[in-house]
Amino acid sequence: MGDRLKEKVAIVTGAGSVGPGWGNGKATAVLFAREGASVLAADINPDAAQETAAIIDQEGGNCTPHEADVSHSDEVERMVERCLEIYGRVDILHNNVGIVDLGGCVEASEESWDRVMNVNLKSMFLTCKFVLPHMERQGKGVIVNISSVASSRWLGVPYVSYSASKGAVNQLTQSVALQYAAKNIRANAILPGFMHTPMVTKSLADFYAAGDVEKMVEIRDCSCPMGKMGDAWDVAHAALFLASDEAKYITGTELVVDGGLTCKAA
Ligand SMILES: NC(=O)c1ccc[n+]([C@@H]2O[C@H](COP(=O)([O-])OP(=O)(O)OC[C@H]3O[C@@H](n4cnc5c(N)ncnc54)[C@H](O)[C@@H]3O)[C@@H](O)[C@H]2O)c1
Repeated sequence: MGDRLKEKVAIVTGAGSVGPGWGNGKATAVLFAREGASVLAADINPDAAQETAAIIDQEGGNCTPHEADVSHSDEVERMVERCLEIYGRVDILHNNVGIVDLGGCVEASEESWDRVMNVNLKSMFLTCKFVLPHMERQGKGVIVNISSVASSRWLGVPYVSYSASKGAVNQLTQSVALQYAAKNIRANAILPGFMHTPMVTKSLADFYAAGDVEKMVEIRDCSCPMGKMGDAWDVAHAALFLASDEAKYITGTELVVDGGLTCKAA
C-alpha cells in the first residue's frame, strides 16, 4: 500500500465495470484505495460496485459500495450524504461515469441524445452541485472529470452526443476550476484516447467489426501510434496524480492520456 492519498476520502462514480475486466472507474477506485484513500464506490449496478469493493477489501483497503444513478439529482444528493455519514468528508470527487450511443444527428434519436447528455454531462453538474459546498467548508478539494479525446477530435466513430457531451465536460471543468481556484479546490479533466475497457467491447464491436471483438481490438490497436490501445490503469494513474497533492498547482487543465493519438490526428 502507498500513501499518496493517505487519509483522503474519495467518491468514484461508475466505480464498477460493464463487463469482466477493468473499466476506468474500477481501476481508479482500486488504485485510490491502494494509495490510502477511503473510497465510496458508486455505480448504477450494485453488483459491479460490490465487486470493486470486494477487491479493495481483499487488499486491505477501505471501500463502501453505493448504488446510485448519477444522472438523478436525488440519488446524487443521497450519495454525497452517505459519504459524509460514513467518512465525514469528501476530499476527492472522481467523475468517471460515461456512456456511448452510436449515431450522428440524423441517425441518433432525440431520446438517445437526452440520455447521453444526462448521464455524461448533467451527472457531473449534479455531483459538483452537491459536493462543492462541502469542499468549500473543508477549505480544500479535488475534482477529476473523465472526458475523452472525442471532445476535441473526430475519431472516425459517429457518436455525436458522446463527442458533444465530452466537449461540454471540458468546459464545465474549466468553469468549476476558475470559480473555485481561490478557494483551494482544483478541477481537471482527463482525456483518454482509445482504451481497452469493457465499455468498448460492449458498445463498439458492432461498429468496427460486425460484433467481432478480436477484430475490433486489432483495428483499434493499429490506429494507435504506440501500436496498441491503452488500458484502464493508464487512466487510473493519471487520475491518481491529479487527485494527489503532487498536482497541487494544477487546475483547469486537460490531461490527454492517448499514446499520441491526438498528435497523429492534429
Ligand atoms: N474506454 C475508452 O476507450 C474510453 C475513452 C475515452 C473516455 N472514456 C471514458 O471513461 C469513462 C469510463 O469508461 P469505461 O470504458 O471504463 O466504462 P465502463 O463501462 O467499464 O464503466 C463505467 C461504469 O459506469 C456505470 N454507470 C453507467 N451509467 C451510470 C449511471 N447513470 N450512474 C452510475 N453509474 C453508471 C456502469 O455500470 C459501469 O460500471 C467514461 O466516462 C468514458 O466515456 C473511455
